[in-house]
Amino acid sequence: MKNIKKYLLLFMTITSTIYCNAQIIPAPEHLVLVAGTFSFDTKVGMSTKGLTKTDGAKLVSYLSSKIQSQTAVVISSRKERTKNIYLELLTKQNANLGEEGYFLSISSTEISISANSVAGLFYGGQTLLQYIVANNSQTPIQLPNIDITDKPNIAWRGMVMDVSRHFYNVNTIKELLDLMAYYKLNVFHWHLADNEGWRLEIKKYPKLTEVGAWRTEIPGSIFYKKDSTYTQKLDGEPYQYGGFYTQSQIKEVVAYAKDRNITVLPEIDIPGHSGAALTAYPEFSCEKHQQESPNSTLWNGVVKPENINLNYCAGQESTFKFLEDVFTEVIELFPSKYIHIGGDEVDKSYWKKCPRCQQTIKEHGLKDEDELQSYFIKRMAKFLERNDRQIIGWDEILEGGAPANATIMSWRGKKGGIEAAKLKQQVIMAPNNPLYFNRVQEEPKNEPFGEIYSTNTLEKVYNYPLIPSELSTDEAKYIIGGQFAIWTEFISSTEHLKYMLLPRMPAFAENLWSTPRNKNFDRFIERLNQAHYDHWKANGIRFHPKYYKKSVY
Ligand code: ACM
Ligand code: ZN
Repeated sequence: MKNIKKYLLLFMTITSTIYCNAQIIPAPEHLVLVAGTFSFDTKVGMSTKGLTKTDGAKLVSYLSSKIQSQTAVVISSRKERTKNIYLELLTKQNANLGEEGYFLSISSTEISISANSVAGLFYGGQTLLQYIVANNSQTPIQLPNIDITDKPNIAWRGMVMDVSRHFYNVNTIKELLDLMAYYKLNVFHWHLADNEGWRLEIKKYPKLTEVGAWRTEIPGSIFYKKDSTYTQKLDGEPYQYGGFYTQSQIKEVVAYAKDRNITVLPEIDIPGHSGAALTAYPEFSCEKHQQESPNSTLWNGVVKPENINLNYCAGQESTFKFLEDVFTEVIELFPSKYIHIGGDEVDKSYWKKCPRCQQTIKEHGLKDEDELQSYFIKRMAKFLERNDRQIIGWDEILEGGAPANATIMSWRGKKGGIEAAKLKQQVIMAPNNPLYFNRVQEEPKNEPFGEIYSTNTLEKVYNYPLIPSELSTDEAKYIIGGQFAIWTEFISSTEHLKYMLLPRMPAFAENLWSTPRNKNFDRFIERLNQAHYDHWKANGIRFHPKYYKKSVY
């Protein structure tokens, strides 16, 4: 009988390892439920070991305030006699955990998180927070005892946020960073400049934000009409709609992100997508004359009027001087090793007509305008390299030849990523299908918000194979990560923004973080229903409801 009990217990432990994921998203690598519970029925101490004083204090302050807000129990920064949370940096690195992995162990009197790095401890803390949220229906909160070993499958897990088409203030950006942290994403790719708006204060060129950050009205696009949040209209009054970040706000966001293990990757898109900058400084375009403001309602990135040039002139030194000055300020603000310089969708017809651009093609023995673009990108890459930074560009920078150590961001499907990996260049996969979250989540006719593009369903995002099967094992090593993107031409409110992100953001996170054996769409939906949808709801966050309260079993 005793033996049967023992085997039954063993069987239950094994099945719980397989089927129980404790409602955590992304699903942890290895998890075992054990007997007992940790009850938040008394003051809990939180202390650190092996961390610098600053790191320790920051982590304790962050985690204790989050836990306290859920449990209503005082978390003291001293060791308590009865119950404690320990955060410990391992003195001997554990190769199995890597840079961002962690151990989390919850017994009846003690919660301990250990890791090789502060990042790992932070992620152990996020898992603990999610576990507390998942168990918050009882008072006091009772945590079933558990042991977790976890680490990410993919190192670079990012989000592209377009703040040019619509400006989002620092508070919203911080909310996005908090959401990213909750789902263990670690790169915030900030698309700061495009045709519709320049969003970054540059001290040397004040008109970039005095002129380039504002537009005449909120686009009254035909695609908006379905939702009442889009009825604002500014009746053509000049310079009313827009905004930008001051340099001190940028530093604040970078620091906020760093405390959440998130690197901010800035993007200044060149040589195309530069209409806002060229409205402010037309002398850096081929025609040099003041053009009709591209950052107006007139076209909103969909139908480009003939008379608008969105490219820098590649045939004059003053353009490069200007851009080097701009990037000098960019690299002072952003510690990221990588700087994104765009390179996508350049309409080269202006360069064809420009005598200076044509002269440059001749002087440098370039074959055509594709090679002129390559010359442009390589010059900027060299400048950034001299300043100890490396460039990332959209996959078009492969046309005409990309700089040798450029990282390629593959957005037009996986083709660019495959080509780059075979050339032994680093790749980040960000294919528009299925990773553009501005596309709707189901049949457009069923969506409350209008959209012109196609559908990227939750299931497609969850199951997307990030590493193209066309690559050999060696080539696949060049795929360093993935990103989803949210382009905001047709998204002007934070409510709509979050609706588009959720629940695709956690689906993407699990796709990249979790090992294939732990991935299962139905169980993902179940966990969303157990502990995520209602958590968002409680925080006033609108999300796509397709699978809400839908049992999949
Ligand atoms: C892009 O969507 N043009 C990168
Ligand atoms: Zn030119």
